[in-house]
Amino acid sequence: MTKITVGTNKNYDIIIQRGLSGLKEFIFSLIKGEKIAVICDDVVDKLYASEIISLLEEKNVVKIVFPHGEQNKNAENYIKIINTLAENKFTRHDTVISLGGGVVGDMGALVASTYMRGIRLIAIPTTILSMVDSSVGGKTAIDLPAGKNLLGTFYQPDGVFINLDFIKSLPEREIKSGYGEIIKYAYLEGEIEPKDLESEISEELVYKCLKIKQKIVEEDEKESSIRKLLNLGHTVGHAIESLANYKISHGECVLMGIEYAINVSKKYFLLSNEKVEKMQKILYSRGEFTKESFDSEKIIEKIKNDKKSSFDGVDFVLLKDVKKPKIVKLTFKELKELI
Ligand code: GLY
Repeated sequence: MTKITVGTNKNYDIIIQRGLSGLKEFIFSLIKGEKIAVICDDVVDKLYASEIISLLEEKNVVKIVFPHGEQNKNAENYIKIINTLAENKFTRHDTVISLGGGVVGDMGALVASTYMRGIRLIAIPTTILSMVDSSVGGKTAIDLPAGKNLLGTFYQPDGVFINLDFIKSLPEREIKSGYGEIIKYAYLEGEIEPKDLESEISEELVYKCLKIKQKIVEEDEKESSIRKLLNLGHTVGHAIESLANYKISHGECVLMGIEYAINVSKKYFLLSNEKVEKMQKILYSRGEFTKESFDSEKIIEKIKNDKKSSFDGVDFVLLKDVKKPKIVKLTFKELKELI
């Protein structure tokens, strides 16, 4: 078992281990009230909900299940879940447990952050992506018809429990998606080396990813400066994700986005071929990933609608080298020339 304590406006522990031993004690050390809402999607419900709920039998547990998939991270389901808490008379002292991947984590965290202006939140991520990224750092969101993650808050959890054994049930698409985010960390300052990307997911690898995230989030919780580095590959990645109607996994879109970032960096910083090859090698360390090419005009149009953009341009994460990322404000005109 490894533990990381994140020091933001709220201090909280992340436990990384194999198995569920200690989970009950972890949850009970964090909660106060009598009621717990376990929020999950229909897929995780079948796999893990009863095992988790059986640990909580002394408490009054309400299970809230919504259909899986990004298309269900919407306002309708959000309001339904909030209403379920209200109908079950949840108070400010009660707790939400989000049990699932990125979609459930974002939804559960938004619910916890807004119900009665904020109740306790414990995250139990079940996908690689949510283990190494979205369950930590306090971003919460649902999507609106106009775009992804447009309605959200910053709200840190009270605790995060990562059971690596959940990875065993993941389909290939989810595994590839998770590696997209892990590969992203290899370009940021930290301890991830190319050889780490060749091995299977381990406690050590997840720890190394989260140490990078911890350091960044502690310094810039609300993404006014260096937290933007975590968006490497995401500006173009989100645009592609949307243009592909979410048929390509998030992590693979991030990898495509990093490829764009490398090409733009090459032109912007006049990088040597040697540096570019080093960056490309990392990108392909898990082999090929899904690729689809989209018209650059369309990509830029999508980027204009991204919440990270301003009226005249976007903060783009470029790479001077591996572990030397740089946030550069590019106008849309510059982006058009460089992309
Ligand atoms: N997923 C990027 C961040 O948490 O800032």
